[in-house]
Amino acid sequence: MAFPETRMRRLRSSENMRRLVRSYSLLVDDLVMPLFVRPGEGVRRPIEAMPGNFQLSADELVKDCRRLASLGVPAVILFGIPERKDARASGALSKSGVVQTAVRAVKDALPELVVITDVCLCEYTDHGHCGLLTEAGEVDNDATLEILAEEALSHAAAGADVVAPSDMMDGRVGRIRRALDEGGFKDIAIMAYSAKFASAFYGPFREAAESAPQFGDRRSYQMDSNAREALREVELDVEEGADIVMVKPALAYLDIVRRVRDRFDVPLAVYNVSGEFSMVRAAAERGWIDEEAVMWESLSAMKRAGADIILTYWAAKVAEALS
Ligand code: PBG
Repeated sequence: MAFPETRMRRLRSSENMRRLVRSYSLLVDDLVMPLFVRPGEGVRRPIEAMPGNFQLSADELVKDCRRLASLGVPAVILFGIPERKDARASGALSKSGVVQTAVRAVKDALPELVVITDVCLCEYTDHGHCGLLTEAGEVDNDATLEILAEEALSHAAAGADVVAPSDMMDGRVGRIRRALDEGGFKDIAIMAYSAKFASAFYGPFREAAESAPQFGDRRSYQMDSNAREALREVELDVEEGADIVMVKPALAYLDIVRRVRDRFDVPLAVYNVSGEFSMVRAAAERGWIDEEAVMWESLSAMKRAGADIILTYWAAKVAEALS
């Protein structure tokens, strides 16, 4: 039956009618807020390229987490900016490291909040790459795995609920799983940045985390934009023991999100990355775009594509709007 019997507009007649027939839903339950932590006390340093986001000391971080928890946001993911960087990323491993200290503070104050930690070396190396380098200046995959495993273990020991390797070294999920199990943390989950593409959308984040590579780029470890290769990456991470897989960035890779959703029965996260956020915020500041409307439209697209979990700098804004 076609027009005039069928009239698609019947079900668009009111907001409640549209709500009733909507095929996806965006819930506060799906949200993870990324937060940046640095040493010190009382520090709340604005991140210029990501208006409304801050580098926070642990005490200030706890305040933000308290607010997120009271809005019903179930989880945060923490990134650390250490006091000092060196070639071996030693700041990533120390018991008194910036993330380890922050995790303890947040879990003390808010034991129910799920604390995820980003596991990577780029914030801790003086050269800004996500792994250790060989003498020749190439990223040394297997040597990096040992450091990542230690880093993940130290986050778990500090009380993290989930560790999230974002480095894109081969074999890291399996290596981290083994380290956690042997270290007595068999119940700590791994959220793997499985299909992480080399992307210009990470630009603002590199200011936030002070992690821009000092030479070269990340294309020898982050992915080129191949769909089948993304599925292999996800498959390998699932085999190695990933509990949650991720596609990142989100908006430019929604085809991958849909294909992963259709193929694998594990929870799927997407990262609505810094560039996706800052572009909208910047245009909104100029009055060129309605930030809140674009936010809903973007996040809805991610849900429709099949995401279960969304890491987004809009988490607090969405939670507020939904409450
Ligand atoms: C690496 C990491 C990056 C992001 C999350 N983890 C940056 C990169 O790979 O260059 C980007 C997140 C964003 O852009 O919001 N530790």
